[in-house]
Amino acid sequence: MKTEILSGEKKNLAIAGKLLKNSELVAFPTETVYGLGARISDEKAIRKVFQIKGRPPDNPLIVHISKLDSIAKVAEEIPADFFRLQERFFPGPLTVILKKHKGLSFLITGGRDSVAIRMPHHPVAEKLISLVGEPLAAPSANLSGRPSPTLASHVFEDFNQYIPLILDGGPCRWGLESTVVSLLSETPHLLRPGVITSEEIEEVLQKKVQRSSEQLAPGMKYRHYAPKAAIYTFDTLDTLLSHLQTPMERLILGKDLPVSHHTLNSRDLYYHFRMADAKGYKEICIFLDPQIKKQEALMNRIFKASYDPCYKTSFSLL
Ligand code: TXA
Ligand code: MG
Repeated sequence: MKTEILSGEKKNLAIAGKLLKNSELVAFPTETVYGLGARISDEKAIRKVFQIKGRPPDNPLIVHISKLDSIAKVAEEIPADFFRLQERFFPGPLTVILKKHKGLSFLITGGRDSVAIRMPHHPVAEKLISLVGEPLAAPSANLSGRPSPTLASHVFEDFNQYIPLILDGGPCRWGLESTVVSLLSETPHLLRPGVITSEEIEEVLQKKVQRSSEQLAPGMKYRHYAPKAAIYTFDTLDTLLSHLQTPMERLILGKDLPVSHHTLNSRDLYYHFRMADAKGYKEICIFLDPQIKKQEALMNRIFKASYDPCYKTSFSLL
């Protein structure tokens, strides 16, 4: 199968819509990372999503909606907290877990009785979902075990010849996956940190958000992307500089360092990981200045990628 990359203009959206109606998968941009979409009523296409990603069937997909009305077809017993959150954060990088609607396929929810819902804040995603006329189940558009794609070319790297179409929306604004919060119990649980912080959620809900290691998003238990290069993190300039004394093919990420480096920020983290692998680097050295350390989602992804048991956080993979 030939994989085309097309812009998100109207005539290409129409092509995407047709493909989706024919049980094909289409990759599309969102403000977080690119998604790999299938219609929620199309079990054949949903199966394909798991198959071509190499994704374990118990790791559920997020249902992407473009209008609030759709919620009634995918979720049940929706608590008031959901409406508070959606009012403030939809469309945007927040995924909410609710009780699943009985009509929704268990393939999407990985056999669970709950469903993840998000309304992406991206014109191409929004128009595509509207045009198809039903929500799209979509994981990040990467092979399982690769970094999430933040450019159309990343999706192409992973799925060339496996999907017919990638809609190109340029670089994703945030570059990290959405925050996942569960509203299945009275106390909200943060299952995956993201751009929207637990503090912001607490402010809207006027209650504490639990950040527990027991209740993780199912996907968080799997080994995430670990680049072939070893990841080293440094808290002080001295330790970094002394480490750099040993010559090595390496990527250095940080800010305002006295050695040649790439700027570390959330948006480009996965881009750099993919680049380090492509170049066959042996090491990725990351300088964690106090500003970086405050960014929970970024730190979480760095630690997950470094896959070092020393870095067990409350969101550890183990
Ligand atoms: O930003 C994002 O969320 C991107 C874009 C494409 O929307 N999507 C994304 O999907 O990151 P994915 O499949 O790579 O990650 C979804 C996460 C997984 O960790 C999964 O286990 C969790 O959400 N999840 C999905 N349904 C769930 C459920 N019913 N209960 C708990 N966690 C769930
Ligand atoms: Mg993913």
